[in-house]
Amino acid sequence: MQKLIIEGPTKLEGEIKIAGSKNSVLPMMAACLLSKKEVIIHNVPNISDVETMADILRVFGVRVESTHSTMILNAENASPKVVPKSLTEKLRASLLVMGPALSRFGEVEIGFPGGDKIGSRPMDAHIEGLEMMGAKDKSTDDTVKLTGQLKPARVIVHELSVTATEVLLMAAVLTEGQTELRMAACEPQIVGLCDFLNGLGAKISGVGSNFLTIEGVSELQGGEGKVTPDNIEAGTMAIAAAATKGDMLIDDFVINDHDALLNTFSRMKVNFQILGPKQIRIFSNSKYQATQIKTRVYPGFPTDLQAPMAVLFTQAHGTSEIFETIYEGRLQYLFELQRMGARVNIRDSHVGLIEGPTNLRGTELISFDIRAGATILLAALVAHGKTTIDRIEHIDRGYEHLDGRLRALGANIERVNS
Ligand code: EPU
Repeated sequence: MQKLIIEGPTKLEGEIKIAGSKNSVLPMMAACLLSKKEVIIHNVPNISDVETMADILRVFGVRVESTHSTMILNAENASPKVVPKSLTEKLRASLLVMGPALSRFGEVEIGFPGGDKIGSRPMDAHIEGLEMMGAKDKSTDDTVKLTGQLKPARVIVHELSVTATEVLLMAAVLTEGQTELRMAACEPQIVGLCDFLNGLGAKISGVGSNFLTIEGVSELQGGEGKVTPDNIEAGTMAIAAAATKGDMLIDDFVINDHDALLNTFSRMKVNFQILGPKQIRIFSNSKYQATQIKTRVYPGFPTDLQAPMAVLFTQAHGTSEIFETIYEGRLQYLFELQRMGARVNIRDSHVGLIEGPTNLRGTELISFDIRAGATILLAALVAHGKTTIDRIEHIDRGYEHLDGRLRALGANIERVNS
């Protein structure tokens, strides 16, 4: 176990390049189960969730090799296997293998997926959709088990769930005939998955919309794909630049994926300059204005950026409001900010008010999920004095060398063994 020690405050200054997206690479890796040829994925982030997904694929007999940010996968000799709970409990995205494994083997059995405790995260959309495609649900208290030969269907996806859409897409790619996914989620990582699969020979149309049509093909080819930049890391860095009153040039910040964030920045009077389709500069303004955010599915304000935004709200003048509509357990980090001196009023499990500006002060904190971990690290950069953050394995799940890359921007951070 390791922890971070941060001495603040720091103005983050300099240039940073955004790593490949966690939520994009995980479905791309799972999709490799569908091809019997070698597949190469570039721009793979060096994060522990990727290692866990590689271990899950190895259970099926997939050969997975990595050098730097390139991963080579070969599922030629893959066969049906039970994925143990010891692996699936590490990340909810382990459920992504359900679609491709069921499609390829006619059966799939995995331990119940774990992951961040941020609220109720049912799997009914995933399972109902697969049932509509002909699967039989044979799940028990311990495992999710589905069997059956899949057939094309008109599936209306329940809840616009990202992972449900991805599971159903992957299930449909090799299913002979035409499958429609209606009310599908359309987050950038789903576009990334569709582009990747189409590059391997799949026939998916409607990419980027909430209505996807998949013409089943008999097999996928080998090939290459590139993970798109992580829009959550990009947004977090932009918020960090603003909150620390720094000056940051961010490369691989896909401007068109960030309408909700940039609109919020404009309302708050955060200075930014768009330098190209994938480059932005964020620089400080002496006085930010309070505002409100309401999390929504894409292209609305992303729930994964809600917590980092709260740190910026502690530095804004007036009362800001957060309305977290997607998860009922994603405001817990506000108690940690409160311990740092933030003036926070948690109305209920969905609504929090933050009054600013406040001088945050360093203290001892625990990171309890990926996004909350990044948030308290950001707060520590803003705070005066020393902060220690324990359980940083949560941060390492989703951000590549975050402490090292922040150090390069001037942060005073040390990683030590707990
Ligand atoms: N939901 C249902 N029924 C379902 C599935 C979902 O009601 O069958 C509801 C949930 O209760 C929740 C919403 O739909 O209100 C989304 O939940 P879910 O947990 O299914 O989201 P997800 O698709 O599994 C992805 C990201 C999350 C991100 C959410 C929302 C991946 C691997 N994960 O999860 O990312 O917060 O979409 O955008 O893509 C993170 O990276 O830290 C993270 C949690």
